[in-house]
Amino acid sequence: MNRISEQAGNVIKESIVDGGVDLQLSNGYARITAYNATTLRIRVGKNSFTTDHSFAVDNLRATVKLQVLKSEGTDKVYATDSLVVKVATHPFRVSIYNHNNQLLCADEATLGVSWYGDKVSCYKQLHSDEKFIGLGEKTGDINRRGNFYQNWNTDAPAYANNADPLYATIPFFIGVHDRLTYGIFFDNSNKSYFNFGGGADEELFHFGADDGEMNYYFFGGNTVASIINDYTNLTGRTPMPPLWSLGFQQSRWGYDNQEQLLTIAKTFREKKLPADVIVSDINYMDNYKVFTWSSKYPDVKGMLGQMKGMGFDMVTIIDPGIKVEKGYKAYEDGLAGNHFAKYPGGRPYIGHVWPGRCHFPDFTKEETRKWWGDQFKQPYIDNGVKGFWNDMNEPAAWGREFPNLIEFGEGKDKKTLYNVKNAYGLLMARSTYEGARRGLNGQRPFVLTRASYSGVQKYSAQWTGDNVSSDDHMLLGFRLLNSMGLSGIPYVGMDIGGFMGNPSPELFIRWLSLGVYSPLFRNHTCIDYNYREPWLFGEANTVKIRAILEQRYKLLPHLYSAFYQAHQTGMPINRMLPIDYTFDDNAYSNKYQNQFLFGNGLLVCPVASTQNSTEVYLPGKGNWYRFGNDKIYAGGSNYFVESPLEDLPVFIKAGGIIPMQSAVQNTKERGDGILYLHIYKGMEQNVYTYYEDDGNTYDYEKGVFYKRDIVYNPQSLLILKAKEGSFNSKFKKVKVVLHGFKQNTSKEYDLTDGEMVIQLPEYN
Ligand code: GLC
Repeated sequence: MNRISEQAGNVIKESIVDGGVDLQLSNGYARITAYNATTLRIRVGKNSFTTDHSFAVDNLRATVKLQVLKSEGTDKVYATDSLVVKVATHPFRVSIYNHNNQLLCADEATLGVSWYGDKVSCYKQLHSDEKFIGLGEKTGDINRRGNFYQNWNTDAPAYANNADPLYATIPFFIGVHDRLTYGIFFDNSNKSYFNFGGGADEELFHFGADDGEMNYYFFGGNTVASIINDYTNLTGRTPMPPLWSLGFQQSRWGYDNQEQLLTIAKTFREKKLPADVIVSDINYMDNYKVFTWSSKYPDVKGMLGQMKGMGFDMVTIIDPGIKVEKGYKAYEDGLAGNHFAKYPGGRPYIGHVWPGRCHFPDFTKEETRKWWGDQFKQPYIDNGVKGFWNDMNEPAAWGREFPNLIEFGEGKDKKTLYNVKNAYGLLMARSTYEGARRGLNGQRPFVLTRASYSGVQKYSAQWTGDNVSSDDHMLLGFRLLNSMGLSGIPYVGMDIGGFMGNPSPELFIRWLSLGVYSPLFRNHTCIDYNYREPWLFGEANTVKIRAILEQRYKLLPHLYSAFYQAHQTGMPINRMLPIDYTFDDNAYSNKYQNQFLFGNGLLVCPVASTQNSTEVYLPGKGNWYRFGNDKIYAGGSNYFVESPLEDLPVFIKAGGIIPMQSAVQNTKERGDGILYLHIYKGMEQNVYTYYEDDGNTYDYEKGVFYKRDIVYNPQSLLILKAKEGSFNSKFKKVKVVLHGFKQNTSKEYDLTDGEMVIQLPEYN
């Protein structure tokens, strides 16, 4: 059949509905609703909106009334307290303005929303200076302008530097033009596309999907931070992670018996290399059957007890494929409970993965999610495992593509793999998190996933899959992490040293020193490559590595406070420069695009292992201090700085407050009881929200936390506002460590709960 595209057509009828407006179009239907003053939802479909569904958004009910203003000519005009929506009726085109009548984003005049068969696209006007950031785990430059991306969650071992798609689908981006910002979340889980002005004459950009509705949320906040806030208000935010999961994690595909795991743990302690987690990859299972242990682990409980005694927690991998094998409990129960995805007609689908022939749980069904979640108790949680690593959940099978006609759900909820694939990883992570949380009875689980869809941050951390041991991959990995952070997922990381390949000692050390500034800090490697435990690089390098691991532990108070901010507002921990320096072109330049802020005030400049000096850009007004030697640089300029392996270029903003602790061997160790507050002299007031809780339970949700604002006042003072929450700090004393002052003396104080006003010596 020769197809031509179909246009949405003209507006024929307007009706006001709950929370918004319905428009009947000559070839379809549109609905515009509001979620808050800066969040709109726009749906356009060929059929009227009798059903509604999202894998990402829990509460689909519009919460704010869209105001209907007087029409302008034939244009309909609607508004919220922050945004004005003008709808041209002949043909249907949507333009969104702020209340200063500045155009944020508009449908492209000739195309707008259109279909090609079931494929739906939305074409938007492109502004000459427009930049785009976001889309989560996407390779390439952080400014997506001029490029085309697809979302089709894919097992991508040893992906090329510019490979697309990878493992995840986060159809959310932010546009920046004319000193204005806006965001769009295209909530459609089918295979989707984003073309940011590539291939067209710099006039338009578009996004679309192979099936489903044109269903997007528009965020009109006037800062990148407020757009991230609105996006995560909709799709959810990270819970506070278990503190132990933020320590160093040692992993390798290939550890295959109990003694070996214990020896690894013991060696960390003997060599005084701080670490918290031993990760067990697929070899712990009996023939790769999930929810089992191989006979090489004869005393799992004893092993975990010994680990605990040494201050270690354990994470086990869980893949979705369930081996087809008579008598194997997960298989028999899954079959009996109707928990597997099926071919049309009802036969469970079979794909080949590690265990051979497998069925795959249908995580779209609530009862299957519950069933899956309940499996974690006996083999894992009851033995002391609290961390679960979900892998191969694109879902992956040998030969890559599952047939698209495989069915999920029942009755009116039935969907095909085509609709579900991009959400499968999210649903598996959700089911794992919810089950583990139930099983752990009040303690926090750690969940890590490879595949994801928007909203995964509510359940899981995410890592960037099977990367490669090269400088390029290390650097592009930070762009991935920073983009994932911008796109709502703050708890991210990559395999330190590269999954495939043997890093040189220099590359491994550089990567580790950067890993300090990655929320997930995990050393992982593939079975085909050399062992890579941190003591295997020679004694001189072990000394360097020890200092790096200690640095991570010293920074945990800062990292945990940044997590609290992510939990509260969605603000990522790794912040690409456009978040804070949105209208500074240098923030998007290829030269500086790997740089990022790590929490408030700390700037990290990734640099290849082969480079002993590098060019950095220190953005904004005000000075920056080099971490470690306190050398001062004026902001708003680029510099060539030294970057030896022992001294990654990290800078702290003048006025910065960085809370740190003494080096410890693991997160359960108490250290010296002193909170070190590093203060960097500056001209402007700075407020830092310091946060602690028990690091292990959900009591923080009931007010059992310790939170206080710390104010640096350039006139004379450091003020620790009275603490909020009912948790007692684990620190007894606070030591104020001064940088850039005339007398950089540090002074210790008892940490009291009421407001503490500390006069800084400079002014005494
Ligand atoms: C996949 C994972 C990798 C893991 C391996 C074996 O390739 O991405 O991290 O080690 O499977 O389970």
